[in-house]
Amino acid sequence: MPRTIVRLKLAGVVAAALVAAGVATGPAAQAHDRTPTLAELAHRHGRYFGSATDNPELTDSAYTKILGREFDMITPGNGMKWYATEPQQGVFDWSKGDEIVKLARANHQRVRAHTLVWHSQLPDWLTSREWTAAQLRAVLKKHITAEVRHYRGKVYSWDVVNEAFNEDGTYRETIWYKTLGPGYIADALRWAHQADPHAKLYLNDYNIEAVGPKSDAYYKLAQNLRAQGVPLDGIGFQAHLALQYGYPSTLEDNLRRFARLGLDTALTEVDVRMQLPATDAKLAEQATWYRDLTRACLAVRRCVGVTVWDYTDRYSWIPAVFPGEGAALPWDEQLEPKPAYSALREALGR
Ligand code: XIL
Repeated sequence: MPRTIVRLKLAGVVAAALVAAGVATGPAAQAHDRTPTLAELAHRHGRYFGSATDNPELTDSAYTKILGREFDMITPGNGMKWYATEPQQGVFDWSKGDEIVKLARANHQRVRAHTLVWHSQLPDWLTSREWTAAQLRAVLKKHITAEVRHYRGKVYSWDVVNEAFNEDGTYRETIWYKTLGPGYIADALRWAHQADPHAKLYLNDYNIEAVGPKSDAYYKLAQNLRAQGVPLDGIGFQAHLALQYGYPSTLEDNLRRFARLGLDTALTEVDVRMQLPATDAKLAEQATWYRDLTRACLAVRRCVGVTVWDYTDRYSWIPAVFPGEGAALPWDEQLEPKPAYSALREALGR
């Protein structure tokens, strides 16, 4: 081997050793030295760390920079909902969802698609008239088939049915349930599976983090669906938590019982809101919740990842929907990391 090449190789080995030892050796080494992102930390556990995002925010470049760097899974907060994707009957508009899928691709991120069947954010044409069961079934099948086909091969998972149960574990009396009966859930899963056999299919809901009547309803439903061979892959625990209601301390046990059914689980819409003003004490308490919920997911093998419902208080949905509450996310309105961010790193870093 000519001497110059030996020298170059040796120089490379020395540089690599310096990098391994944490010694900065110039601009090229900085990429290796910087602190790992939440996604990188989660990846070491075979998990993802995600964030929701929404189209109007994508013009904020300070925001998109962190979104593209820190996360490896993206959920469109609104862009794939029915009102956005089928604003008139049979007229489909994929522009909002496509924009987010494209951005995620550019950042090498996967997409948790959200959501196909829900009672909220439906277009007027759907809610402003009566439907026979046969008509509504056809409308639902067409919507699911068109949307899942459009995103086939482009998304990791679908929240197929969102928020199907009441707090007491009875079925929510939605347009779907009232017109079609409880079988709409199995139908929706089957239609989604036909349209994209590789997407992971989820049921998703809030207030199911703890063991209780609502999560019991999902447990029984999941058991039945699995027994019937219905294509269900996972349960999404939204985890819209609030300091004033207490931490759901049975979360880990709850995730585990679903894993035993052979299902994936995920924390899909995490935020931890508080009554404003935020104080240091509340932010510290919030941080322990973020740490603990992340640890709970890491403790259960089938818990595949955690997604925050956007990452910054600048774009949180909380203040608009829960007056007087907010400060729910790991970054503040100035895009500065809060104690919750360090707590996430701590939980993922172990
Ligand atoms: C929220 C969005 O973040 C808001 O922008 C929108 O106005 C209302 O919906 N559970 C869900 C999400 O499954 O789709 C909701 O998203 C938050 C609660």
